[in-house]
Amino acid sequence: MNIVTRTDLINFLIKKIGAKSYLEIGLGDGVNFSNVLCDDKISVDPFFRNKQTYFMTSDEFFKINKKKFDLIFIDGLHHEDQVTKDILNSLKFLNENGIIVCHDMNPESEEIQVIPYNGYGAWTGDCWKAFVNLRMSRNDLEMFTVNMDYGCGVIKRGSQKLLEKDELSYTNLNENRKKWLNLVEVDEFLNQHF
Ligand SMILES: C[S@@+](CC[C@H](N)C(=O)[O-])C[C@H]1O[C@@H](n2cnc3c(N)ncnc32)[C@H](O)[C@@H]1O
Repeated sequence: MNIVTRTDLINFLIKKIGAKSYLEIGLGDGVNFSNVLCDDKISVDPFFRNKQTYFMTSDEFFKINKKKFDLIFIDGLHHEDQVTKDILNSLKFLNENGIIVCHDMNPESEEIQVIPYNGYGAWTGDCWKAFVNLRMSRNDLEMFTVNMDYGCGVIKRGSQKLLEKDELSYTNLNENRKKWLNLVEVDEFLNQHF
């Protein structure tokens, strides 16, 4: 199985769990969304692009939404506080065996995760802090990060051993990257998790 991009991972998970409904927070140019293979797809983005289903922020969407989803892809505003809200709101609207995928959880340098985005080149933002904070506080979730495409964090209901709390600095992330993100290579992901 060749999983190289976030789209490959999302389509693999959709097939694996038989997902029938998909929500994407942050459509961008739609390059991922248009290639996601799911019957019922919804996208949310507050900026004019091509064809988002809901022209609004994720916070606004979750206030009016009544639908539950099997797979939710979080790739909107890449700031810690916003991604924390996006994950917690997504958990409220996730079907029983549903999965959340969060993009850009594994920044490869300190520069590309600095807030705010300076408008040049690759940028992950500091959304990794939202993910690691939940690894430190939510033992009712199973969380790991697949080491591809800037890190795709996967969240399911389940259990995990909590990390010891520590300062969410880039230096600490860099020293504890594998443990903090529960970083797995693609073949480990396929062998251990599915
Ligand atoms: C990195 S792009 C998304 C890329 C797309 N998911 C993909 O994989 O091709 C991030 C998008 O998030 C949108 N965005 C910014 N703030 C947002 C918010 N509060 N709620 C939802 N989307 C937001 C931006 O307009 C932008 O289009």
